[in-house]
Amino acid sequence: MSHPSQENSSVPLREAAAAEARDALMKGRGADELVRVRGLVKHFPVEGSDDVVRAVDGVTFEILSGETLGLVGESGCGKSTVGRCLLRLIEPTAGEIEFEGRDVRALSKSELRSLRREMQIIFQDPYASLNPRMKVRDIVGEPLVIHGLKSKEEKRARVAELLKRVGLDPEYMNRYPHEFSGGQRQRIGIARALASFTRDRFILTRRRCSLLFRFLTRSASVTA
Ligand SMILES: Nc1ncnc2c1ncn2[C@@H]1O[C@H](COP(=O)(O)OP(=O)(O)OP(=O)(O)O)[C@@H](O)[C@H]1O
Ligand SMILES: [Mg+2]
Repeated sequence: MSHPSQENSSVPLREAAAAEARDALMKGRGADELVRVRGLVKHFPVEGSDDVVRAVDGVTFEILSGETLGLVGESGCGKSTVGRCLLRLIEPTAGEIEFEGRDVRALSKSELRSLRREMQIIFQDPYASLNPRMKVRDIVGEPLVIHGLKSKEEKRARVAELLKRVGLDPEYMNRYPHEFSGGQRQRIGIARALASFTRDRFILTRRRCSLLFRFLTRSASVTA
Protein backbone atom coordinates (compact mmCIF):
# COMPACT_ATOMS: atom_id res chain seq x y z
CA MET A 1 0.00 0.00 0.00
CA SER A 2 1.33 3.43 -0.83
CA HIS A 3 0.45 6.55 1.07
CA PRO A 4 -3.06 7.71 0.12
CA SER A 5 -1.73 11.13 -0.78
CA GLN A 6 0.28 9.69 -3.67
CA GLU A 7 -2.64 8.12 -5.42
CA ASN A 8 -4.59 10.63 -7.50
CA SER A 9 -4.77 14.11 -8.89
CA SER A 10 -7.27 15.56 -6.41
CA VAL A 11 -4.59 15.13 -3.78
CA PRO A 12 -3.38 18.79 -3.65
CA LEU A 13 -6.95 19.90 -2.95
CA ARG A 14 -7.45 17.31 -0.27
CA GLU A 15 -4.10 18.11 1.25
CA ALA A 16 -4.90 21.81 1.36
CA ALA A 17 -8.25 21.09 3.02
CA ALA A 18 -6.62 18.72 5.47
CA ALA A 19 -3.91 21.26 6.27
CA GLU A 20 -6.57 23.91 6.91
CA ALA A 21 -8.52 21.59 9.19
CA ARG A 22 -5.33 20.78 11.03
CA ASP A 23 -4.45 24.43 11.51
CA ALA A 24 -7.93 25.02 12.94
CA LEU A 25 -7.54 22.05 15.24
CA MET A 26 -4.11 23.15 16.39
CA LYS A 27 -5.22 26.74 17.00
CA GLY A 28 -8.60 25.97 18.54
CA ARG A 29 -7.63 23.15 20.78
CA GLY A 30 -3.92 23.26 21.10
CA ALA A 31 -4.01 19.77 19.61
CA ASP A 32 -0.82 17.81 19.74
CA GLU A 33 0.46 15.03 17.63
CA LEU A 34 -0.87 11.70 18.80
CA VAL A 35 0.48 9.27 16.23
CA ARG A 36 3.41 9.64 13.86
CA VAL A 37 4.22 6.93 11.34
CA ARG A 38 7.23 7.13 9.02
CA GLY A 39 8.05 4.71 6.19
CA LEU A 40 6.07 1.82 7.66
CA VAL A 41 6.76 -1.49 5.92
CA LYS A 42 5.25 -4.91 6.58
CA HIS A 43 6.14 -7.90 4.43
CA PHE A 44 4.75 -11.35 5.14
CA PRO A 45 6.85 -14.36 4.17
CA VAL A 46 5.29 -16.76 1.67
CA GLU A 47 5.56 -20.34 2.87
CA GLY A 48 7.88 -22.52 0.83
CA SER A 49 9.33 -19.67 -1.24
CA ASP A 50 11.60 -16.63 -1.01
CA ASP A 51 8.74 -14.34 -2.04
CA VAL A 52 7.02 -11.97 0.35
CA VAL A 53 3.55 -10.41 0.43
CA ARG A 54 4.21 -6.67 0.38
CA ALA A 55 1.18 -5.79 2.47
CA VAL A 56 2.50 -2.34 3.48
CA ASP A 57 5.34 -0.71 1.62
CA GLY A 58 6.34 2.70 2.94
CA VAL A 59 3.38 4.41 4.60
CA THR A 60 3.82 7.80 6.25
CA PHE A 61 1.21 9.83 8.13
CA GLU A 62 0.51 11.55 11.41
CA ILE A 63 -2.68 11.97 13.42
CA LEU A 64 -3.32 14.92 15.69
CA SER A 65 -5.28 14.58 18.85
CA GLY A 66 -8.97 14.99 17.91
CA GLU A 67 -8.31 14.20 14.27
CA THR A 68 -9.71 11.21 12.36
CA LEU A 69 -7.75 9.56 9.56
CA GLY A 70 -9.44 7.23 7.09
CA LEU A 71 -7.42 4.71 5.09
CA VAL A 72 -9.25 3.87 1.91
CA GLY A 73 -8.32 1.16 -0.56
CA GLU A 74 -9.36 -2.08 -2.13
CA SER A 75 -9.70 -5.24 -0.10
CA GLY A 76 -6.32 -6.70 0.79
CA CYS A 77 -4.34 -3.50 0.11
CA GLY A 78 -2.93 -3.31 3.66
CA LYS A 79 -5.21 -1.08 5.75
CA SER A 80 -5.66 -3.45 8.70
CA THR A 81 -1.99 -4.40 8.56
CA VAL A 82 -1.14 -0.74 9.20
CA GLY A 83 -3.46 -0.77 12.24
CA ARG A 84 -2.05 -4.02 13.58
CA CYS A 85 1.52 -2.71 13.20
CA LEU A 86 0.62 0.49 15.09
CA LEU A 87 -0.32 -1.58 18.13
CA ARG A 88 2.47 -4.07 17.47
CA LEU A 89 -0.03 -6.90 17.30
CA ILE A 90 2.33 -7.86 14.49
CA GLU A 91 5.94 -6.71 14.21
CA PRO A 92 6.59 -4.17 11.44
CA THR A 93 9.35 -5.05 8.97
CA ALA A 94 10.62 -1.45 8.98
CA GLY A 95 9.62 2.11 9.76
CA GLU A 96 9.03 4.37 12.73
CA ILE A 97 5.93 4.52 14.91
CA GLU A 98 5.45 7.06 17.66
CA PHE A 99 2.51 7.39 20.02
CA GLU A 100 2.54 10.65 21.99
CA GLY A 101 6.23 10.96 21.25
CA ARG A 102 7.06 7.45 22.50
CA ASP A 103 8.85 5.08 20.16
CA VAL A 104 6.33 2.23 19.97
CA ARG A 105 8.83 -0.14 18.38
CA ALA A 106 11.18 0.21 21.36
CA LEU A 107 8.59 -0.55 24.06
CA SER A 108 8.96 -3.56 26.34
CA LYS A 109 6.17 -6.11 26.73
CA SER A 110 4.79 -4.51 29.88
CA GLU A 111 4.99 -1.02 28.34
CA LEU A 112 3.12 -2.39 25.32
CA ARG A 113 0.41 -3.75 27.58
CA SER A 114 -0.19 -0.34 29.09
CA LEU A 115 -0.05 1.29 25.64
CA ARG A 116 -2.84 -1.01 24.52
CA ARG A 117 -5.03 0.42 27.22
CA GLU A 118 -4.71 3.76 25.42
CA MET A 119 -4.70 2.50 21.83
CA GLN A 120 -7.46 0.10 20.88
CA ILE A 121 -8.35 -1.69 17.69
CA ILE A 122 -11.87 -2.63 16.68
CA PHE A 123 -11.94 -5.54 14.27
CA GLN A 124 -14.62 -5.70 11.62
CA ASP A 125 -14.18 -9.20 10.35
CA PRO A 126 -15.83 -12.52 11.13
CA TYR A 127 -12.60 -14.16 12.28
CA ALA A 128 -14.34 -15.76 15.22
CA SER A 129 -16.66 -17.65 12.91
CA LEU A 130 -13.79 -19.32 11.03
CA ASN A 131 -11.99 -22.13 12.81
CA PRO A 132 -8.38 -20.89 13.08
CA ARG A 133 -6.99 -24.43 12.99
CA MET A 134 -8.70 -25.38 9.74
CA LYS A 135 -7.37 -24.66 6.27
CA VAL A 136 -9.68 -22.80 3.94
CA ARG A 137 -10.21 -25.90 1.79
CA ASP A 138 -11.71 -27.67 4.84
CA ILE A 139 -13.68 -24.65 6.05
CA VAL A 140 -15.33 -24.23 2.65
CA GLY A 141 -15.35 -27.97 1.94
CA GLU A 142 -17.04 -29.03 5.17
CA PRO A 143 -20.62 -28.32 4.01
CA LEU A 144 -19.86 -30.22 0.79
CA VAL A 145 -18.89 -33.30 2.75
CA ILE A 146 -21.97 -32.92 4.94
CA HIS A 147 -24.04 -32.77 1.75
CA GLY A 148 -22.54 -36.07 0.66
CA LEU A 149 -19.70 -35.11 -1.66
CA LYS A 150 -17.19 -37.87 -1.02
CA SER A 151 -14.44 -37.69 -3.64
CA LYS A 152 -11.42 -35.68 -2.51
CA GLU A 153 -10.71 -34.44 -6.02
CA GLU A 154 -14.30 -33.31 -6.59
CA LYS A 155 -14.24 -31.49 -3.26
CA ARG A 156 -11.01 -29.73 -4.20
CA ALA A 157 -12.43 -28.65 -7.57
CA ARG A 158 -15.65 -27.42 -6.01
CA VAL A 159 -13.80 -25.44 -3.30
CA ALA A 160 -11.63 -23.88 -6.03
CA GLU A 161 -14.77 -22.94 -7.97
CA LEU A 162 -16.38 -21.40 -4.88
CA LEU A 163 -13.27 -19.39 -4.02
CA LYS A 164 -13.13 -18.07 -7.58
CA ARG A 165 -16.82 -17.22 -7.37
CA VAL A 166 -16.19 -14.90 -4.39
CA GLY A 167 -13.12 -13.33 -5.99
CA LEU A 168 -10.40 -15.28 -4.16
CA ASP A 169 -7.48 -17.10 -5.71
CA PRO A 170 -8.13 -20.89 -5.54
CA GLU A 171 -4.51 -21.26 -4.42
CA TYR A 172 -5.61 -19.71 -1.11
CA MET A 173 -7.34 -22.95 -0.14
CA ASN A 174 -4.15 -24.10 1.58
CA ARG A 175 -3.98 -21.09 3.87
CA TYR A 176 -5.34 -20.63 7.37
CA PRO A 177 -7.85 -17.85 8.29
CA HIS A 178 -5.22 -15.64 10.00
CA GLU A 179 -3.39 -15.27 6.70
CA PHE A 180 -6.21 -13.24 5.14
CA SER A 181 -7.49 -9.69 5.26
CA GLY A 182 -10.84 -8.91 6.90
CA GLY A 183 -12.61 -8.58 3.56
CA GLN A 184 -11.03 -11.80 2.31
CA ARG A 185 -12.26 -13.60 5.44
CA GLN A 186 -15.76 -12.32 4.80
CA ARG A 187 -15.53 -13.85 1.34
CA ILE A 188 -14.42 -17.18 2.82
CA GLY A 189 -17.55 -17.06 4.97
CA ILE A 190 -19.63 -16.41 1.86
CA ALA A 191 -17.93 -19.25 -0.04
CA ARG A 192 -18.73 -21.55 2.86
CA ALA A 193 -22.34 -20.40 2.88
CA LEU A 194 -22.55 -21.00 -0.87
CA ALA A 195 -21.12 -24.48 -0.38
CA SER A 196 -24.23 -25.32 1.61
CA PHE A 197 -26.49 -24.65 -1.37
CA THR A 198 -27.38 -27.51 -3.63
CA ARG A 199 -26.10 -27.09 -7.15
CA ASP A 200 -29.43 -25.93 -8.56
CA ARG A 201 -29.77 -23.12 -6.08
CA PHE A 202 -26.16 -22.19 -6.58
CA ILE A 203 -26.73 -21.82 -10.31
CA LEU A 204 -29.16 -19.05 -9.48
CA THR A 205 -26.24 -17.05 -8.09
CA ARG A 206 -24.01 -17.54 -11.07
CA ARG A 207 -24.67 -14.32 -12.93
CA ARG A 208 -21.57 -12.16 -13.06
CA CYS A 209 -21.40 -9.37 -10.52
CA SER A 210 -18.22 -7.56 -9.69
CA LEU A 211 -19.19 -6.09 -6.35
CA LEU A 212 -19.24 -8.22 -3.27
CA PHE A 213 -22.15 -6.14 -2.04
CA ARG A 214 -24.24 -7.14 -5.04
CA PHE A 215 -23.04 -10.67 -4.65
CA LEU A 216 -24.27 -10.71 -1.09
CA THR A 217 -27.62 -9.21 -2.06
CA ARG A 218 -28.04 -11.84 -4.72
CA SER A 219 -27.10 -14.66 -2.38
CA ALA A 220 -29.58 -13.40 0.16
CA SER A 221 -32.33 -13.32 -2.39
CA VAL A 222 -31.48 -16.87 -3.41
CA THR A 223 -31.92 -18.13 0.11
CA ALA A 224 -35.11 -16.12 0.72
N1 LIG B 1 -0.43 -13.28 8.37
C1 LIG B 1 -0.40 -13.08 7.06
N2 LIG B 1 0.34 -13.87 6.25
C2 LIG B 1 0.37 -13.66 4.92
N3 LIG B 1 -0.28 -12.68 4.28
C3 LIG B 1 -1.06 -11.87 5.02
C4 LIG B 1 -1.17 -12.01 6.44
N4 LIG B 1 -2.01 -11.05 6.91
C5 LIG B 1 -2.41 -10.34 5.83
N5 LIG B 1 -1.84 -10.82 4.70
C6 LIG B 1 -1.99 -10.28 3.34
O1 LIG B 1 -1.62 -8.91 3.40
C7 LIG B 1 -2.48 -8.14 2.54
C8 LIG B 1 -3.05 -6.97 3.33
O2 LIG B 1 -4.00 -7.46 4.30
P1 LIG B 1 -4.87 -6.44 5.19
O3 LIG B 1 -5.58 -7.26 6.21
O4 LIG B 1 -4.00 -5.35 5.71
O5 LIG B 1 -5.86 -5.84 4.09
P2 LIG B 1 -7.02 -4.73 4.22
O6 LIG B 1 -6.60 -3.55 3.39
O7 LIG B 1 -7.31 -4.46 5.66
O8 LIG B 1 -8.22 -5.46 3.49
P3 LIG B 1 -9.80 -5.49 3.85
O9 LIG B 1 -10.39 -4.22 3.28
O10 LIG B 1 -10.25 -6.70 3.09
O11 LIG B 1 -9.96 -5.62 5.33
C9 LIG B 1 -3.51 -9.11 1.97
O12 LIG B 1 -3.14 -9.40 0.65
C10 LIG B 1 -3.43 -10.34 2.84
O13 LIG B 1 -3.68 -11.50 2.09
MG1 LIG C 1 -9.05 -4.87 6.90
